[in-house]
Amino acid sequence: MTSNKDYFVIEGLGGAKKLHGKISVSGSKNAVLPAMASAFLFDNPITITNIPDTEDVKRMAELIKGLKARISHKDKRTLTIDPRNAKKTILEREISKRFRASIILVGPVLARFGKVSFPHPGGCVIGARPIDLFLEGFQKMGATFFDNGEMFTLESKTGKLNGTEINFKLQSVTATETFMMAGILAQGTTVLRNVALEPEVTSVAEFLVSCGARISGIGTTTLTIEGGDLLTSTIETKYEVIPDRIEAGSFLILGALAASRLTIEKCVPEHLAIPIQILRETGAEIETGKNFIKIKSGENNSCSAISIRTHEYPGFPTDLQAPFTVFLTQSCGEGTVFETIFEGRLNYISDLVKMGADIKMWDAHHITIKGPVLLKGKEVEGPDIRAGIAFIMAGIIAEGQSIIRNAYFIDRGYEKIEKRLRKIGVNIRRVTS
Ligand code: EPZ
Repeated sequence: MTSNKDYFVIEGLGGAKKLHGKISVSGSKNAVLPAMASAFLFDNPITITNIPDTEDVKRMAELIKGLKARISHKDKRTLTIDPRNAKKTILEREISKRFRASIILVGPVLARFGKVSFPHPGGCVIGARPIDLFLEGFQKMGATFFDNGEMFTLESKTGKLNGTEINFKLQSVTATETFMMAGILAQGTTVLRNVALEPEVTSVAEFLVSCGARISGIGTTTLTIEGGDLLTSTIETKYEVIPDRIEAGSFLILGALAASRLTIEKCVPEHLAIPIQILRETGAEIETGKNFIKIKSGENNSCSAISIRTHEYPGFPTDLQAPFTVFLTQSCGEGTVFETIFEGRLNYISDLVKMGADIKMWDAHHITIKGPVLLKGKEVEGPDIRAGIAFIMAGIIAEGQSIIRNAYFIDRGYEKIEKRLRKIGVNIRRVTS
């Protein structure tokens, strides 16, 4: 496991646009995690392929083993989860607090066993990360809620959840996933309104339907789930994790910043329609194919005031907000970023200013960025996964050496990032303390 003290050292390109070659995209972190959690909906083992080798996958596997389900690796990219021996219903506290996605387990475990205990989930410090949608929803499904100060417990007296109607006051990705899964084993029908439309939600829903789940409305903002018995996985119903659109988008923005010619392989361009359109408007030369994107950095002579507003899918993803802010430090003119999803997701700005960026923060959701400015290499620390990759990108384009601390956060969402970046011309190395 990556130590919390590991860091990256980067020798910057100083504005040269020299990145070239091919970089492959791994399986999606935010698809593999719900897919792993769905194992508790089955009466036999499930197999998941195209697994990314990241820290969050390791933590989810540790949590699942802690519930006494069995996990085996057929190969590095394929794992099988056998829930038949599972009996514990308490999520290990310290592991759960290391990543927000631990909360997705609550639905399947509560639906299967009638009880689940878990801490307030952790993850990125990008805001309060409340869980009111979860506690309200499961009480509507008939569970009683206890809080002993250390752990929350949800329990159904009958051992089963009841189908119900839930109108989400906010579109929540993990709440959508956990209630969609809970509804599969509930008694009766569950209707979820104002659900998230992220491709990861759709992909996992389609996998569950292929195993017999009765979910209708996939791809729309209303899901209807007919409750029933445990699902059965067959050899044909392996789940292949979809490509990580946020990893692909991060590489795309890096290409727009510093590529002479970069090909991003094993991705789904249509998942990035809005970021691609915006980058084309800034002058980047982008060609897309069925499963690749080719990008060449444009000349930023066209001064244009670029404004982005993060939005639930298919809008501009909040997970690309920090990387795009780095891009705006190199754009000619004054750019604006509105972060509408999380109230703490601009908290990395001070370190970017330390590198020389000309950024003004108007409030917790709104910044303006003036460019182009040649960044200077500094020692910085990404407070979350995506600010972490943004600082790697800033270090790559800066003049001089940068030290990017908190490698663990980056390793949560980007597999062996330094090895892949070196292959396209980045001078980066990891220091393991
Ligand atoms: C998922 O987080 C992703 N994580 C996040 O990616 C992503 O940034 C986020 O969706 C938005 O796209 C996973 O899928 C594992 P939300 P999630 O619930 O589900 C509020 C990354 O870097 N809310 O969709 O936790 C919440 O505060 C990570 O890969 C409540 O108010 O996000 C936010 O303002 C970071 N109450 C809004 O909803 C709740 O009970 C959307 O958050 C739940 C959420």
